[in-house]
Amino acid sequence: MIESGNNVIATDLKGNTQKSVQKFYKTYTYGCQMNENDTERLAGQLKSLGFAETDNNEQADVIIINTCCVRESAEKKIYGKIGELKRLKATNPNLLIVIAGCMAQKDREKLFKKASHIDLIIGTHNVHQFTELVTKLDKSRERVLAVWDQAERLAPNVPTIRKNKISAWVPIMYGCNNFCTYCIVPYVRGRERSRTVEDIIQEIDELSEQGFKEITLLGQNVNSYGKDADNQLDFADLLTKVDSLNTIERIRYMTSHPRDMTDKVIAAVKNSRNICEHFHLPIQSGSDTLLEKMNRGYNQSYYRDLVQKIRQAVPNSSLTTDIIVGFPGETEELFEETLALLKAVEFDAAYTFLYSQRSGTPAATMPDQIPLAVKKVRLNRLADIQNEISLAINKRLVGSTVEVLVEGESKNNAEKLMGRTRTNKIVLWDKTGDERIGQLVQVKISVAQTWLLKGQLV
Ligand code: 5AD
Ligand code: SF4
Repeated sequence: MIESGNNVIATDLKGNTQKSVQKFYKTYTYGCQMNENDTERLAGQLKSLGFAETDNNEQADVIIINTCCVRESAEKKIYGKIGELKRLKATNPNLLIVIAGCMAQKDREKLFKKASHIDLIIGTHNVHQFTELVTKLDKSRERVLAVWDQAERLAPNVPTIRKNKISAWVPIMYGCNNFCTYCIVPYVRGRERSRTVEDIIQEIDELSEQGFKEITLLGQNVNSYGKDADNQLDFADLLTKVDSLNTIERIRYMTSHPRDMTDKVIAAVKNSRNICEHFHLPIQSGSDTLLEKMNRGYNQSYYRDLVQKIRQAVPNSSLTTDIIVGFPGETEELFEETLALLKAVEFDAAYTFLYSQRSGTPAATMPDQIPLAVKKVRLNRLADIQNEISLAINKRLVGSTVEVLVEGESKNNAEKLMGRTRTNKIVLWDKTGDERIGQLVQVKISVAQTWLLKGQLV
């Protein structure tokens, strides 16, 4: 097969040439790793239909916008992007515009009615139908709304195109049963469904054959793995099983709900060879009053005990968290409880978010919503404290030598290579001519910053 420009010239067995047009797709992904993985599964299906990826909107025959609705700020950005594509559709009527992800689930009618340049709205439970839907659209050009309210017990596997060749996402479960009062996810991703162990292991075996060095087991609450099915392994058993394959150098997982983080999971990490010493445990708030209003199912004393257990069992582990600032009813006093908790726990990093009212969730109609200006000031105060803590923790690593998985050139500095420690810290070092991308190297740390470390290859 010869590819020349947009034309693909194929020669059949009799020596006749047939000319077909190479088609291209472009993707935009917003939000979490689950969305990144869904995009890979949508792209995989287009690839199996003969499409190739392009960076260029003008060249694309299909544009996918995979959307997130966890916070209003993401939604605004995405509506802007959808608006931009209207002009492109006007100049190229053959272009197929696809909206996928959580907004497709939540705002389907509004999008379908108001944005007539959208050809397909595909829900979070319909990803596996994409091949069929695109084929149909290609023929009939009739706009399609393909959004199921509920998932099938388990969606069939579909081809996946991985953007990154070193590190891969492996979904182990979909959906969430927790209904934290601020969160839209359970409404747009449905109830928890665990993939079978066989499917997960098969995918990991394929990844190791393809040379992947790192996997991240994905789920909204990975610690609930297996609870929705009989005769299933639980999450700790799954971790141990994946580790025992001993085919992938680094195993990560996210996200863990602190309430469901068992001693058995901690022991599985401790006793493993390849599971990375990084715990991401979103605490959301340091105030027991707010944790209860959030329906998180733990209090701050439980959380601190959990951290102590983890640090005792896995001494050199890192700990990161998510925090929401400005949840309804957050008084100055309650906010200060979160600041005190940050100081007491000393996280390696905290991902902080301004509380965003999501209509349909219980917190959206709670009294005492916090003005945006107050939320912003609090977020800055919190970031100042956390940055100091992150820097102090990173400084302790100066002079030590760490194992780094080489990911490639640094995005901001072409002179440097970038990789991550097992504890998920970013490390930069000077290129030496021997790049060793995808390999494990040792780097001696000489400089610590808030968000990264710098050093020399040893
Ligand atoms: N407002 C702000 N942050 C939110 N998150 C989830 N829902 C909201 C919301 N309505 C945050 C939580 C979660 C992270 C992925 O997003 O901290 O852990
Ligand atoms: Fe949202 Fe809570 Fe489920 Fe996480 S555990 S996805 S914050 S409802």
